[in-house]
Amino acid sequence: MTHDSARISPTAHYTGYAWLAHGLSDPAFATPTGQFLYRALGPANRLMRAAGQPNLDGFLLARHHMIDAVLRAAIERGEIGQVIEVACGLSPRGWRFAREFGDRVTYVEADLPGMAAKKRAVLAKAGAGGAHHRVVEIDATADAGPASVAALAETLDPARGTAIITEGLLNYFDPVAVAKMWRRFAGALARFPHGLYLADLHLAEAAGPVERLFAGALGVFVRGRIHFHFSDARAAERELGIAGFRGAELIDPSTRELPELDRTSARFVRVVAAST
Ligand SMILES: C[S@@+](CC[C@H](N)C(=O)[O-])C[C@H]1O[C@@H](n2cnc3c(N)ncnc32)[C@H](O)[C@@H]1O
Repeated sequence: MTHDSARISPTAHYTGYAWLAHGLSDPAFATPTGQFLYRALGPANRLMRAAGQPNLDGFLLARHHMIDAVLRAAIERGEIGQVIEVACGLSPRGWRFAREFGDRVTYVEADLPGMAAKKRAVLAKAGAGGAHHRVVEIDATADAGPASVAALAETLDPARGTAIITEGLLNYFDPVAVAKMWRRFAGALARFPHGLYLADLHLAEAAGPVERLFAGALGVFVRGRIHFHFSDARAAERELGIAGFRGAELIDPSTRELPELDRTSARFVRVVAAST
């Protein structure tokens, strides 16, 4: 586990509470830290929104609903039957998709040991989890060994299309670490008939003054830099190609129809949809 990994875990409490506040999860997903942070940032969020400015909840919801939409479409097309959500934190996506798709989808949530244990407890409290929905320990920075994504992929059915998701992870890592992660993910997905990688990414070209200010504040909170690795979508697509993905698209959620869409905020985030 890298130093970055240990620092960013508290942010999962904030986003976990944000999903709940927007009706996307169950009260079991709330933590005191999440509630405290979410309430502390509430006035600033509302002020920005009222002033027609980009705000944190706006781009969190845009990325979350966009990833949901691409994943759901791939499941409904029959391409994807297994999901590995790396850095799942307190996200309710596994809970929601397990309820929606039942045994049509095997959903594996994965995070560092402390957060994985927390997630197991949350799911138990929500009455969720089972053969088709489980939580495992993973370290996205591990090349090999039991906590690697490669080892996890080997436990899944090689005959079913598989998706890997990372949400709220990439921008905490430097460009070299992200390139290595993408290689690991493409490598792990190569054994399945369909492989889909979904993630959120903030590009340098889309980062306006407000976003840079926010990134600075978040950087102080997590005691490290927030990285804008790629100048534009083409640079990111090129790196995804080098990592081993066949096709990659960077979707601007502000151009789509999504629930609760705040286009002003949504245009600051991109959703990576890359296939093997
Ligand atoms: C900002 S939170 C995002 C959580 C969730 N995906 C969401 O959007 O609500 C970042 C998550 O990354 C996890 N994480 C950090 N380093 C990691 C690593 N090396 N491998 C796997 N997960 C990691 C943290 O534990 C935390 O749950």
